[in-house]
This record gives sequence, structure tokens and C-alpha cells, in this order.
Amino acid sequence: MNQNLYTAPALTDLSAPDSGKNALQQFAEDVISGLSQYPKTLSSKYFYDGKGSRLFQQIMAVPEYYLTQSEFDVFETHKQAIAQHIAGSEPFTLVDLGAGDATKTKVILKELLQQDARFEYVPVDISGDAMQELNRNLQKELPALQTHAVVGTYFDALPWINAHKPGPKVLLFLGSNIGNFLPEYRSYFIKEVRKHMQPGDKLLVGMDLRKDPETILKAYNDASGVTAAFNLNLLDRINSELGGNFIVDQFMHYPLYNPQEGVMKSYLVSKKAQEVTIKATGKSFKFEAWEAIHTESSYKFTLQQAETLGQEAGLKTAQVFQDEKAYFADLLYIAT
Ligand code: TRP
Repeated sequence: MNQNLYTAPALTDLSAPDSGKNALQQFAEDVISGLSQYPKTLSSKYFYDGKGSRLFQQIMAVPEYYLTQSEFDVFETHKQAIAQHIAGSEPFTLVDLGAGDATKTKVILKELLQQDARFEYVPVDISGDAMQELNRNLQKELPALQTHAVVGTYFDALPWINAHKPGPKVLLFLGSNIGNFLPEYRSYFIKEVRKHMQPGDKLLVGMDLRKDPETILKAYNDASGVTAAFNLNLLDRINSELGGNFIVDQFMHYPLYNPQEGVMKSYLVSKKAQEVTIKATGKSFKFEAWEAIHTESSYKFTLQQAETLGQEAGLKTAQVFQDEKAYFADLLYIAT
């Protein structure tokens, strides 16, 4: 995974040199612990192999998966105000946590350049390939933009950025990634991020909002079956990388929304009693008929919850930007 140790001038790789070697072992360990539990679980962080990433790109394009388009709408509608708020104290460093291909961030980047804001863009992602690709893409598409990509985890990257990029910071955590954290981890995460901020620094967080439960459910169960393929691909990945013998057809994708807790849960359900052997784990795992594996939780927020989340971490909600349908919100927090 991490064979690429070449570091371009505009890219810093903070990932441990041997992390690639252990990645497979970590995957095996996580699969053993997840499938040995009752109820069973598999970590959503393993969705994104090559095929999984391509399927997720397709999910973002199905009409039912409103999340991506809604945040895009938020940015298109409010880009001027967002850029103005962000560019309060210049020059600043714009840190994009989990930047990926930065499709949505580009709306803001273009607006900031248009407003002649003085800033450096620092995208952070665990994927070295994604950051090299983004570097190339930004050089072509936004040559005026000053960029320094960082490859690493959020909590390795933040201290590095503070040490190497002094001055005001604006952090971005877009795409409702925060919704995939369990509530305890969500609070911990925001508090940890706050520890790396100075008073006056800003944090823009994307959150999917509560809405008609049917709308939410459909977003995780699209008619064309892309989401089902995406969820089931996790079993394919275990087969190919860990020598599993899952018969993927004998499992089904099953999503369920709980409107009281505001959580969308995705499962893989075994359609019959069966036993699966996974060579790299040296183990077999039994499934009862209709037993489910939990694969991901996606929390949906009220604006009050979003505000409280910041408040508890020492962040004041300065602005709430929403799309016209109020499906999605980007909250601008300021460190107090
Ligand atoms: N993390 C995304 C989300 O919660 C990814 C996702 C979309 C997803 N559809 C899914 C994860 C179905 C698991 C199952 O919106």
C-alpha cells in the first residue's frame, strides 16, 4: 500500500514506512475480532479498496444519495459568504481533513482565489495516491493555488501542520464524515481537533441533517443496487485479500433507519445458516440463518445537536450554512 516513498516537494508523507506491510495483518485481526463478536460487525474503514472506491463514486452519482449534491448546493449557494468568513485573518492555512479528490472543496478554493485571499491549501488524507493525484490536478486546474498535501492520519497531520505552518488556521471536515463516528468518538474527535486549534481558528464541519426517514433510507438503498454492491464488496475483499470463501450471493444488503436516534445502520445479512473459512485468519466463522453483520452507522443531526457538539469542545457556532431543502448543513465553528 505504501510502497511509494517518493515525496514530492509539495507533499509530506507522515505514514510509517512499514505501515503497508502490516496493513493486511491489521485487516485480518479486525475481521477476526468483528466476526467473533455477537452481534457480528465489520469495520467500514475496509470498504474502500479499488473497487469499493469506484462503487462509492457511483453511489455519489445515484439520484437517491442526496448527501453529496446537498453539500455541493450549500457551497454553491453560500460560497461568497463562506469564503468571506473563512478569510477573516490572513494569511491563513486551509487544512482539508480527509480531502480525497476535493471536488466540493474546489468550489470554496475558487471563490477564495477570486476574492484574492492569501492562504495556503493543505489537504490531508490517509491515501498517498489520492494526494499525489490531487496535487497534479490542482496544478492543472488551479495553478495560482499554493498547495502542500500531507499524507497521514488526522492526529499525526495536525501537530505537523502546527509546527510547519504557523499562523491562523481554518480546518475543513466535510461530507458528513463526522456522522460515521459513534457518539462517544464524535465528541472525543472534536475535542481532540480543538486541542490543535488556537483561539480564533475556525472549523467548518459538514453534517447530514434529520429529514423524512424515507428519504434517508432510500439514500442507503438505491434502486439501481449500487449501494448493495458496495456493502457486499466488503465480503469480496475478504475473499481476495484474506483468502475467504464467502459466497457473496448468500448475503444481502439491509439498511435500517432509526428516526429517534437519527442513525442509519447498514448490515450484511446471511440468507442461510452457513460457515465461512478465512485462510489468513486461520479460522472459520458460523452464521445462523438471517444473522446480520453490522458494517456502518451514519448519524443524522439536529442543528441543536451540532451546536452542542461544538460547545462542549470549546467551539462557538458562528454560522450555519444550509441548502434550500435543509437536507445538509455546514457549521462554521470558532475556537474560543
Ligand atoms: N460514509 C458514507 C455514508 O455514511 C458512505 C456510505 C454510503 C455507505 N452508502 C453506504 C456505507 C452504505 C455503508 C453502506 O453516507
